[in-house]
Amino acid sequence: MWAALRLALRPCARAPGSTLRAYHGASVVALGTQPDSSSAIYQENYKQMKALVDQLYERAQKIRLGGDEKARARHVSRGKLLARERVDGLIDPGSPFLELSQFAGYQLYGDEEVPAGGIITGIGRVSGVECMIVANDATIKGGTYYPVTVKKHLRAQEIAMQNRLPCIYLVDSGGANLPRQAEIFADRDHFGRAFYNQAIMSSEGIVQIAVVMGFCTAGGAYLPAMADENIIVRKQGTIFLGGPPLVKAATGEEVSAEDLGGADLHCRKSGVSDYYALDDNHALHLVRTIVRNLNYQKKLDVTIEPSEDPLFPADELYGIVGANLKRNFDVREGAHFVQLCCQRNIPLLFLQNITGFMVGREYEAEGIAKDGAKMVTAVACANVPKITVIIGGSYGAGNYGMCGRAYSPRFLYMWPNARISVMGGEQAANVLATVARDQRAREGKQFSSADEAALKEPIMKRFDEEGSPYYSSARLWDDGIIDPADTRLVLGLSLSAALNAPIQKSNFGIWRM
Ligand code: COA
Repeated sequence: MWAALRLALRPCARAPGSTLRAYHGASVVALGTQPDSSSAIYQENYKQMKALVDQLYERAQKIRLGGDEKARARHVSRGKLLARERVDGLIDPGSPFLELSQFAGYQLYGDEEVPAGGIITGIGRVSGVECMIVANDATIKGGTYYPVTVKKHLRAQEIAMQNRLPCIYLVDSGGANLPRQAEIFADRDHFGRAFYNQAIMSSEGIVQIAVVMGFCTAGGAYLPAMADENIIVRKQGTIFLGGPPLVKAATGEEVSAEDLGGADLHCRKSGVSDYYALDDNHALHLVRTIVRNLNYQKKLDVTIEPSEDPLFPADELYGIVGANLKRNFDVREGAHFVQLCCQRNIPLLFLQNITGFMVGREYEAEGIAKDGAKMVTAVACANVPKITVIIGGSYGAGNYGMCGRAYSPRFLYMWPNARISVMGGEQAANVLATVARDQRAREGKQFSSADEAALKEPIMKRFDEEGSPYYSSARLWDDGIIDPADTRLVLGLSLSAALNAPIQKSNFGIWRM
């Protein structure tokens, strides 16, 4: 994988003619050229990318806190662990947690901050088994589901389904965010889909475990009720279809939350829960025991070789790539390699830095539309695990051909320098200016350069804002923004997770040769 990365990045910053070679058995593998770290371009690139990475960490640090100080203090005073502490306590000590979509909800709801979209999702190892972990953060509006919370929850389940990962839900949520109910309740990919997914996964033998660590109200009550096994925490977890205020309003009955749906009721009487936990830590211990007893074995369809450390420091990527997308570095392609990989069960890694397909008379005459369609068909039909990292620009049909979100890569990450939109802002502004100029000409009106500038300026501003990786991640167009220096680690963890599912045969559709 590292070799692929090195091959893909051939920057102007490298000293000419200094190709490095590595010897593996009888073969010789070219690993690119050594960058000239003293060159002005390398230095400038490094500085720009480092600033973006520092900004990434700074923003992530704030998000990791969760809700505000008051909400966190209230949560802890109830004897509860914070959502991230729960995840830390669940996974194997010292093992990595591949957190997904940390920037979900970022600047999405105006002044209303929803850190991490109000829910933490990611892949962690529990008793040696890679699991999808979904943890509500009750310090953000009682853990209620915003539209982005629903989207993130469903995306985590989609990843679990595609990669056959057992799911562990650490539930602490007031259910639907009521002021936004119209955006989360009735449609196919709204809240109800979460329970549908649980039923489907369970039917396919993908284990569903829920831990009730707080409120599970109304629709949320189905999360534990539909799990294969669930645990409820004493005097903390509750499960009910209607909470005490609703019961009072509906029937006049006065009842405490604990009596209505607490651990004692559900473990002793109703049979809704399977295990009674004394506190959060005990509950997490019980989950680890359940997973240990799953009798789960990861069956690999590929040969795994011991990994080798990279030859070069990972942060060299900063100096190679930088943040200026107008500065070129080659990303190489081939086309029938997709079929070869499918034949041989080899996962595909897409490193996107693409402006789109070539336009113009010459390219159209050569059949660029046909060639593009072939690539899109191959990528769409390839059933081997596909992982995409957007390392620069991701524009137009290039996004499709290089396995953008619509092509269901198992995981899609972005570097902080990445840009994503249907075309660049400048091009979009030029297209619209041309359209406007032609319209005015038809009507016999003037289109001055001042008119043109006034038309272009807001378009470029808008594209600039909407093309940002933070804009993308806030809306879950990707699975997270990552430090380029962590790419190898993130890809390794993602590939490992992907190999939990058997690799299906790929059938390619018809294509025009
Ligand atoms: N939609 C939107 N916001 C909600 C909410 C909901 N369903 N339930 C609670 N909130 C907000 C509160 O307004 C409060 O906001 P604030 O921090 O800006 O003041 C915050 O979440 C915390 O609520 P609070 O009641 O103070 O905290 P709590 O920890 O004591 O209780 C709940 C949390 C979620 C258990 C409780 O508020 C509750 O029962 N809510 C109603 C749940 C419900 O019936 N949901 C409908 C599901 S279909």
